[in-house]
Amino acid sequence: SDEPTISITIVGASGDLAKKKIFPALFALFYENCLPEHFTIFGYSRSKMTDEELRNSISGTLTCRVDSRDNCGDKMEEFLRRCFYHPGQYGSDENFSELDEKLREKEGGRLSHRLFYLSIPPNIFVDVVRCASLCASSPTGWTRVIVEKPFGRDSKSSGELTRSLKQYLSEDQIFRIDHYLGKELVENLSVLRFSNLVFEPLWSRQYIRNVQLIFSEDFGTEGRGGYFDSYGIIRDIMQNHLLQILALFAMEPPVSLDAEDIRNEKVKVLRSMKNLQLDDVVVGQYKGHSKGGRAYPAYIDDPTVPKNSLTPTFAAAALFIDNARWDGVPFLMKAGKALHSRRAEIRVQFRHVPGNLYKRSFGTDLDKATNELVIRVQPDEAIYLKVNNKIPGLTMRLDSSRLNLLYSAKYTREIPDAYERLLLDAIEGERRLFIRSDELDAAWALFTPLLKELEEKKIAPELYPYGSRGPVGAHYLAAKYGVRWGDIS
Ligand code: BG6
Repeated sequence: SDEPTISITIVGASGDLAKKKIFPALFALFYENCLPEHFTIFGYSRSKMTDEELRNSISGTLTCRVDSRDNCGDKMEEFLRRCFYHPGQYGSDENFSELDEKLREKEGGRLSHRLFYLSIPPNIFVDVVRCASLCASSPTGWTRVIVEKPFGRDSKSSGELTRSLKQYLSEDQIFRIDHYLGKELVENLSVLRFSNLVFEPLWSRQYIRNVQLIFSEDFGTEGRGGYFDSYGIIRDIMQNHLLQILALFAMEPPVSLDAEDIRNEKVKVLRSMKNLQLDDVVVGQYKGHSKGGRAYPAYIDDPTVPKNSLTPTFAAAALFIDNARWDGVPFLMKAGKALHSRRAEIRVQFRHVPGNLYKRSFGTDLDKATNELVIRVQPDEAIYLKVNNKIPGLTMRLDSSRLNLLYSAKYTREIPDAYERLLLDAIEGERRLFIRSDELDAAWALFTPLLKELEEKKIAPELYPYGSRGPVGAHYLAAKYGVRWGDIS
């Protein structure tokens, strides 16, 4: 057929992300027939490896979604036959020209597009982009580059990175990934708000008391302390994943579902955020702990982390949006590693019912009677609304119950990984879920002064035991705004 072909090059193919996420996502897309008939995948990195060795190293990570489809093994082989490897240095014109030749050979003169996935440390982004765009961009079709965070570590370095990339690429060739935007329940946020009558009218300071954005992991930074120590949890999770969710949550209705319309609204929210105050932030770092006969290491036990590191592995913050819809509503963020559970969720606590006729039936704790909407991004995706009902019986006692949409109970189909959605969108040129450079600037503008202040004043993180619920300071921060964290109470 004369359908265009696509060549996908994963730069940094021997790394963890490539193996754990990118190759498996590409295979899943292939398996679901979402890739064009003609496509080629190249792994590129410095290690010496043959095509066969690359195939062996990734084949164990590919999984078949639906086991009952018995052609999965064949599909896997077919996929692996389209995977190749080219060893090369990251800043070498010569090596990229060799790659170009191999790509041309596979493309066989057809109209073909090229997608580069940069799964590499940020200090070599620019080198790779220079080589890829000068020596290996598509002669016939489009060339796009997917980049992963960190996009700099503050406003200045991010601006420099953007300027350097733009010497070689136009904005519409750059696809900045924030993989949280590819998660099913994050994508569903807009659907929930804008396709239901019952939520959007309540979506403002008039009815919403506070919004909580919670990220926790039950493992530490073992094995990646080197990267983590120069970034910390605020840059790793808050400035991107949680802030992106906040922007989608709080934006005004966009003119349409077009990428530019959505991103225009997101950037407006980000630019309406009040400056973050140091006393609206709590930082923490995990310390060693033993539980059930097992010893859990402290953050600073990692050999790649300096013993006197002040890098936060936990942070909580109260943020405010200075606009008509959200004036005065605290958006509380909490993100931490080595906590007691792994979860990501959005919790919306509504105001108390004015003059509630039933308050006595609830005892003294009105908070127990608040409606709360919870969007559980992971694990075990769900959306539930806490509502009040009478406990059946002859006395008038009330209970709080959940109207629960549990995805695993409703849908048998497995939820695709965020990387599948995002890779497919990049291939199709759909930019809705990628970060535009003005969004990135606004995100850094919000966090840079705070990060600087934390670092200049050498604010010591509050230590919390590995596997605990995090520093108690986070409770005081919430309490300051009359809030209780919904994941704990
Ligand atoms: C990454 C962070 O962006 O997201 C990691 O760098 C974190 O520190 C990861 O573990 C979490 O992603 P997920 O999809 O596993 O929740």
